[in-house]
This record gives sequence, structure tokens and C-alpha cells, in this order.
Amino acid sequence: AATTRHEAETSPAVCTGSIDRDWSGFSGTGFCNGTNATGAYAQFTVNAAAAGTATLAVRFANGTTSARAANLIVNGTTVQPVSFEGTGAWSTWVTKTVTAAVNAGSNTIRLSPTSSAGLANIDYLDF
Ligand code: GCU
Repeated sequence: AATTRHEAETSPAVCTGSIDRDWSGFSGTGFCNGTNATGAYAQFTVNAAAAGTATLAVRFANGTTSARAANLIVNGTTVQPVSFEGTGAWSTWVTKTVTAAVNAGSNTIRLSPTSSAGLANIDYLDF
């Protein structure tokens, strides 16, 4: 099925942190720089035509040399860890693909860091 781009800076997406535009290469008008704390998040609301396993493509940048560990939380339930590896620079954006089970209709997709280092910078989710 066709994918829809969900920008992290555009409602109904939620970014607990700031919407920044100081690192180039992002899509849309900015990216989510989540607060560097456990439990901060970038959240997207997506629509699935049918229940089942869906592909989620997250565009991110991590200018550090340490992976940023996060949980993928679907509709409030943690379903799997996701690691956002260093991309070499904050202006180097990489797309990471994960799969997860979704319901038919509206679903919340939350990326939430599991360490105080916080999230990578998150540009968008293609769903
Ligand atoms: C820097 C960078 C931010 C990034 C932050 C971090 O401050 O400018 O874009 O989010 O590091 O470590 O998370």
C-alpha cells in the first residue's frame, strides 16, 4: 500500500522537547529534538487500512557515536526496542524500518527513549 509521510513537527504528531531546524537536511519545516530524558517521546498518529503487520520507516539523525535506545510503543503498549545508531552527524539523516502489529483505523506510534541520553532527532515516520 502507499505510504503516508507523518512529519514529527506537524500535529497530530507530538514531540516532548522542541521542534528544531538548526541541522540541515530535514523534511518539512523541522524535526523533533526530544528532551534528553527517559520517557520523553515523539509520537505519531497513523491510519491503517487493515489490522496486521505494518512497516514503519523512521527518519532520524544521531550525531553522537553512541546509539540512542528507545522503545516502540504502539497504542500504549511497548512492543519492541529500537536502537537509533550514530549517523555520523546531526545533519546526516537515515531511515530505519521496523515492523509492528497495528489495529485497523487509528493507531498511535510512540518512540520513547530508555536512557537519559534521550532520543535521536526524529524527522518523520512513513507509514
Ligand atoms: C545537540 C544537537 C541536538 C541534539 C542533542 C542531543 O544539542 O544540537 O540537535 O538533539 O545534541 O544530544 O540529543
